[in-house]
Amino acid sequence: MFCRVARRGFRADGVRAYRVSVLGANGGIGQPLSLLLKLNKRVTDLRLYDLKGAKGVAADLSHIPTNSQVSGYTAENPEALREALTGADVVVVPAGVPRKPGMTRDDLFAINAGVVQQLAGAIGQHAPGAAVLVISNPVNSTVPIMAAELRKLGVYDPRKLFGVTTLDSIRASRFISEVQGTDPTRERVPVIGGHSGITIIPVLSQTQHTGIDKATRDALIHRIQFGGDEVVKAKNGAGSATLSMARAGAKFADAVLAGLAGEQGVVEPAFVDSPLYKSEGIEFFASAVTLGPRGVEEVHPVGTLSAEEEEMLAKCKETLKQNIEKGINFAK
Ligand code: NAD
Ligand code: LMR
Repeated sequence: MFCRVARRGFRADGVRAYRVSVLGANGGIGQPLSLLLKLNKRVTDLRLYDLKGAKGVAADLSHIPTNSQVSGYTAENPEALREALTGADVVVVPAGVPRKPGMTRDDLFAINAGVVQQLAGAIGQHAPGAAVLVISNPVNSTVPIMAAELRKLGVYDPRKLFGVTTLDSIRASRFISEVQGTDPTRERVPVIGGHSGITIIPVLSQTQHTGIDKATRDALIHRIQFGGDEVVKAKNGAGSATLSMARAGAKFADAVLAGLAGEQGVVEPAFVDSPLYKSEGIEFFASAVTLGPRGVEEVHPVGTLSAEEEEMLAKCKETLKQNIEKGINFAK
């Protein structure tokens, strides 16, 4: 019987093969995200790490008949991070604590800054060439921490570090479709800035829906900026968005993998090391980026904004600058 043999870096059917590691894989986001990655045909080797429970998640997912191996690693094994990370093309980081009602994302800094710092050290050591997708909040500060830690190890590649802001974009698509009575799958709303409250700027003026009255528009903008709070409140102490975030994280990971595979025209928003406002001391900013074999190939400018959006941008920059500095100072 004819049996095709896989070339290195490819599946037997010729599809490019990638190793993806998930750090925090037993969590509310980690589990459904790992499921979606198990279903992704680009992923042939899925490595799940968590303080505990990742072996169970891996065993469970390993029964799904897709063309990938899944393995689980937990912190009681001192070699676990090395084994989970070595050879990874993409590392996704949803490790850390989520919000409870009444908390801001910045309140998570006290715990998650240390978590991200520790994992950054391991990524820098064991997966220095990987694309790193940071989900852990507060993203506006954890991404600068990740960058600073990788830089300390001499392995920082600004094209390969991403704060995942996809959830803001998918929320914007959904919420604008509810207001306008349109198909959410066809809505594209540029969202720029950062990932918390007023740093999230939906650029409605660049959609086809420019005629929305001011009161409705203000309410829509507020909902996109504070959509995370809706879920935190509804979960009532049991955490924040996990399922929509898993969808968002899997979508963004697939775009990064498509870019690595050399697909053309892969454009997604992300919080990246950005030239756009560096002259104003803002090292990281979310806007659309073109993804390619080396990670970020191009950071897109924000385009023409309305006067209202320019005002939002000015306020966003003030907060973002502080959030970024907080991360950089922590890493120092
Ligand atoms: P969770 O508590 O359900 O899961 C977090 C997991 O991280 C747990 O399994 C925990 O054991 C693990 N973990 C903690 N410290 C770790 C370490 N040092 N190494 C490895 N694993 C570790 O939380 P969740 O709901 O999955 O949320 C995770 C993070 O994602 C939170 O910080 C949350 O605020 C953030 N989040 C970000 C976005 C976004 O848009 N970027 C959206 C939703 C949630
Ligand atoms: C979100 O936007 O849902 C996440 O950042 C989680 C949160 O704390 O709101």
